[in-house]
Amino acid sequence: MQIQNDLLLRAAKGEKVERTPVWLMRQAGRILPEYRAVRESVSGFIELAQTPELAAEVTIQPVDLLGVDAAIIFSDILVIPEAMGLPYEMVEKRGPWFPNTVSSASDLQKLRVADGANDLSYVIKAIEITKKELNGRVPLIGFAGAPWTIFAYMVEGSGSKTFSKARAMLYTEPKLSHLLLQMITDSTINYLKAQIQAGADLVQIFDSWAGILGPEQYEEFSLRYIRQICDAVNEVPKTVFAKGAFFAREAMRKLNCETIGLDWNMGISESRKMIGENKTLQGNLDPAALYGNPDQVRTATIQMMEQFKGSRHIANLGHGVYPDIDPDMVKVFIQTVKSFK
Ligand code: CP3
Repeated sequence: MQIQNDLLLRAAKGEKVERTPVWLMRQAGRILPEYRAVRESVSGFIELAQTPELAAEVTIQPVDLLGVDAAIIFSDILVIPEAMGLPYEMVEKRGPWFPNTVSSASDLQKLRVADGANDLSYVIKAIEITKKELNGRVPLIGFAGAPWTIFAYMVEGSGSKTFSKARAMLYTEPKLSHLLLQMITDSTINYLKAQIQAGADLVQIFDSWAGILGPEQYEEFSLRYIRQICDAVNEVPKTVFAKGAFFAREAMRKLNCETIGLDWNMGISESRKMIGENKTLQGNLDPAALYGNPDQVRTATIQMMEQFKGSRHIANLGHGVYPDIDPDMVKVFIQTVKSFK
């Protein structure tokens, strides 16, 4: 199917664009009252994510309501542990929680490499429905967590400020850590390929907890596996977003991907120098900038756009949009990018 607004795909590939494309990480979610209404019609986040018709509906909401240049499939990075045999729960106001975690070789033996199309058929179905309903208006982004970030949740069992259990395992059980990371990597490759087969036009890898590792450990326990994924998945453009990995920017230059996501701690011109001209950069407005009034949001957005001017860019925030942001300020951000000359 021909995509009418393909700005995102052209910008990712470094082709000419009339204007910079814009979307927001976590655009499908609690910022929209329309999302909360759908969410209240089911028992919780997981049921919503596992009901393909509803997942497709909330995926498309930000395209209709906010005017973004891409949809991102409504799901979560934690569907991979579940598909490998480690289910999660989403605890209201607290976030993800795993009744069982991985701490030994025998825990590992209970897990399997996920087959994307079968074990995650509900996401695949949601992508197929979304593609049909989008009818080529904008591209659909598929995604997965980076192996290290998924490992962190599987070992820790929940979110954490330090992920000290997960980081401890890298020191105390490096072999076991690598075995688990490889299983996650193989599952993720299967999953991303199934998403692409179902219609995802671009895929993004979220390494949300990149920033809690040191540079050497990041290379050994994260980048190595991201590299495997990038080398294995070549059907569509890829984006790697490693939050807090300022120390890995030079290494990212050589990754087999089209786009690198920047968080708002990363300076734009220094990032461009480290990553080079041959990649598109995505980001990176501080999500907190959207707490400002319309003039302040416009000023902050223009300031960001000026710094990316003249080089390959996809506009976004430096991390997911915060759930209590006023959707009108999201619209100001989007409109400012769209009218930037
Ligand atoms: O971007 C989108 O709009 C698509 C949907 C999406 C969700 N999660 C839906 C969601 C995406 C891309 C994610 C990715 C995700 N999930 C990441 C990587 C990005 C990042 O933020 O760093 C991570 C670390 C997770 C894990 C996760 N899921 C946490 C920590 C939480 C709880 C905290 C929170 O933000 O609510 C979730 C829950 C979650 N995932 C919600 C949504 C819409 C909220 C659930 C609800 O509706 O109650």
